[in-house]
Amino acid sequence: MTVRADLQGQVAVVTGASSGIGHHFCSVLTENGATVIAAARRLDRLEKVVADGAAAEAVQCDVTNADDVERLIEAAKYRGGPDIVVNAAGWAKDTPATETPLDEFRQTLEVDLTAIFSVAATAARAMSDGGSIINIASILGLGASWPITQAAYCAAKGGVINLTRQLGAEWASKGIRVNAIAPGWFPSELTDEMFENEKAMGWIKRNTPIGRPGRLDELDGALLLMASPTSTYLTGQVLAVDGGWTAR
Ligand SMILES: NC(=O)c1ccc[n+]([C@@H]2O[C@H](COP(=O)([O-])OP(=O)(O)OC[C@H]3O[C@@H](n4cnc5c(N)ncnc54)[C@H](OP(=O)(O)O)[C@@H]3O)[C@@H](O)[C@H]2O)c1
Repeated sequence: MTVRADLQGQVAVVTGASSGIGHHFCSVLTENGATVIAAARRLDRLEKVVADGAAAEAVQCDVTNADDVERLIEAAKYRGGPDIVVNAAGWAKDTPATETPLDEFRQTLEVDLTAIFSVAATAARAMSDGGSIINIASILGLGASWPITQAAYCAAKGGVINLTRQLGAEWASKGIRVNAIAPGWFPSELTDEMFENEKAMGWIKRNTPIGRPGRLDELDGALLLMASPTSTYLTGQVLAVDGGWTAR
């Protein structure tokens, strides 16, 4: 079964487009009619995304670099957008809290929280006719990661969720909607090791009421609901797509 939305004429920017969820979302937005600009640091990967037809344009962009972010949004302006922005760039590292160097903590906040704000605010300044901003948060922004030791990631993702609420409220009168998806466990480069580890997979299955990790296509409904220009009254919300993980 495929979820559909009419995104004809919409210009979408997707960060984190060189792999995992961001790459998948490029395909979904393109299949539903949007003109997609794919952004990440690895240009060779992005060029493949374009060559495969999942995006119209590749823009090399480190989301922690404000000049790169300006260039990315300029590329969308050139095409008449941005109308949709998906903040899917992200990073995580396992380190026990007592052993986490402050630099590592700050770097995680920089990529996973500050850059989300930077992309959203730069895009919002360019959204003269309104638009939809979709932040990829995490179930680890709604609760602890324990027994996984990712204090910095949890702090950043929790920040993304409340940032989404604030920006949704602050920009509501401009017609800019801001929502977040909080995924459970999905296959990607970020989760490769967990998916290959039998013990970790057993833990995921035991703790997910649906009894398995998610498939990337199971995020499509949430993405298209938030991206669709018909969702005019939906803003400042976080939707956990997690097989029931946060319902426990
Ligand atoms: N997979 C899951 O189970 C899961 C669950 C909850 C939330 N999430 C969130 O979903 C989002 C996507 O993650 P994923 O699982 O798809 O992981 P992934 O496959 O590792 O993708 C991460 C993406 O972020 C990009 N990126 C990282 N740092 C960047 C930077 N400084 N500037 C620009 N791009 C950067 C990477 O591209 P380059 O290296 O080419 O720059 C890559 O495209 C993240 O926010 C993650 O926290 C994932």
